Amino acid sequence: MADKKAKLTIGEISTEFDILSGTLGPNVIDIAPLSKMNYFTYDPGFMATAACESKITFIDGDKGTLLYRGYPIGQLAAESNFMEVCYLLLKGELPKNEEYQEFCRTITRHSMVHEQIRYFYNGFRRDAHPMAIMVGVVGALSAFYHDTLDIKNPEHRASSAIRLIAKMPTIAAMCYKYSIGQPFMPPQNSMSYAENFLHMMFATPTEETVPNPILVRALDRIFTLHADHEQNASTSTVRLAGSTGANPFVCISAGIAALWGPAHGGANEAALNMLQEIGDVSQIGKYIARAKDPKDTFRLMGFGHRVYKNYDPRAKVMRETCHEVLDAVGAHDNPLFKIAMALEKIALEDEYFVQRKLYPNVDFYSGITLSAIGIPPNMFTVIFALARTIGWVAHWNEMISSPYRLGRPRQLYTGSPERAFLSINERK
Ligand code: SDX
Repeated sequence: MADKKAKLTIGEISTEFDILSGTLGPNVIDIAPLSKMNYFTYDPGFMATAACESKITFIDGDKGTLLYRGYPIGQLAAESNFMEVCYLLLKGELPKNEEYQEFCRTITRHSMVHEQIRYFYNGFRRDAHPMAIMVGVVGALSAFYHDTLDIKNPEHRASSAIRLIAKMPTIAAMCYKYSIGQPFMPPQNSMSYAENFLHMMFATPTEETVPNPILVRALDRIFTLHADHEQNASTSTVRLAGSTGANPFVCISAGIAALWGPAHGGANEAALNMLQEIGDVSQIGKYIARAKDPKDTFRLMGFGHRVYKNYDPRAKVMRETCHEVLDAVGAHDNPLFKIAMALEKIALEDEYFVQRKLYPNVDFYSGITLSAIGIPPNMFTVIFALARTIGWVAHWNEMISSPYRLGRPRQLYTGSPERAFLSINERK
């Protein structure tokens, strides 16, 4: 892949670096020889750093492009489904019919959790944030599968991948049931992935519910939109944890922890809370002013993106899905939706946002959509984690199944030079 060279001259020393090109996107400079020059690169926030090579997902922030294994997100959201997308992200190709049926059967048959898992929930307060429970319970899965934790064994990796994809909806729904004091509902093998999740969330032993097919389809699409996003903060966390040889369950737990932050996956819950705080279209100007005030830490949640400096292609599909769901539940005059539409319009015309290329991202409409489906705000990031599990697992597996090195960044040290210890009586 090295077809060109870059040359760096510092003082008398010149060094050449390979320029590597991929299938799409910017070329990269292989800076390995830099360590021989006793220099490090310096790139806080990794604004211009490719931490790895990957074949899974490609994003072009300027064109608003998102490809899963080469397929545009808009086509997958419109014509595929989440189980197909899981197969695609994990194996690299869309499944043929028999492969698809077998994959769905396998996922379905791993959706139950060990009975002991129930007892973990009892240790949490009923009002614990469900993301705190997810971090704990998903990591604890590694205490149940000692038989398949050899990460060098492809069959063990495949088995862990299936278990994680299959069990996340069950564990997530159990978080919600625990928080409202209702009994856990077991998965139903007769149901599709998204339908089963809604069943485990909202059915009770006393009353069967038939999930609304429009909401099932909408949720399946939301899972697809959130499935992967190249080297975002949580996926990079999973890769870094995985590079130590840690088992996949705790690596995914680390990813869940990173996703929880409001600058990342926690933005959907924060965006809905922000809309509720704004409360009325007449208050939008006050919040726009706060978002623009450099002295105010307030930011418009659901706006802006590190990579998309044009629109987020997922936001476009999410906005359409939002309309569909609000129509289906008869909530099109939802006041939060009206505030969201007005906020989007005002922000997109405001010079501050236009100049900084701050557009609504996937989280801006997902909160309203999930809320209209009946999912409480503190479960929004749990849904994001449920969907992103396939992305995390695909990247973990891609890294572990080819040569990789322990991730160990260096630093620019600006602390104290070496100094001698002083006993407490000698200190001035
Ligand atoms: C996700 O990486 C991924 O792919 C993530 C994700 C995925 O699928 O994995 O896409 C999911 O995390 C989406 C992003 C969700 N986060 C939010 O909606 C939170 C609100 N957004 C911001 O926190 C912010 O936009 C970030 C964190 C998303 C991106 O920030 P950057 O790239 O570090 O940019 P920045 O903070 O340097 O901002 C550049 C300028 C600054 O102003 P100036 O210093 O130039 O004057 O834009 C301003 C910022 O103050 N700015 C905002 C803003 N976002 C950036 N001002 C007001 N409101 C905002 N939302």
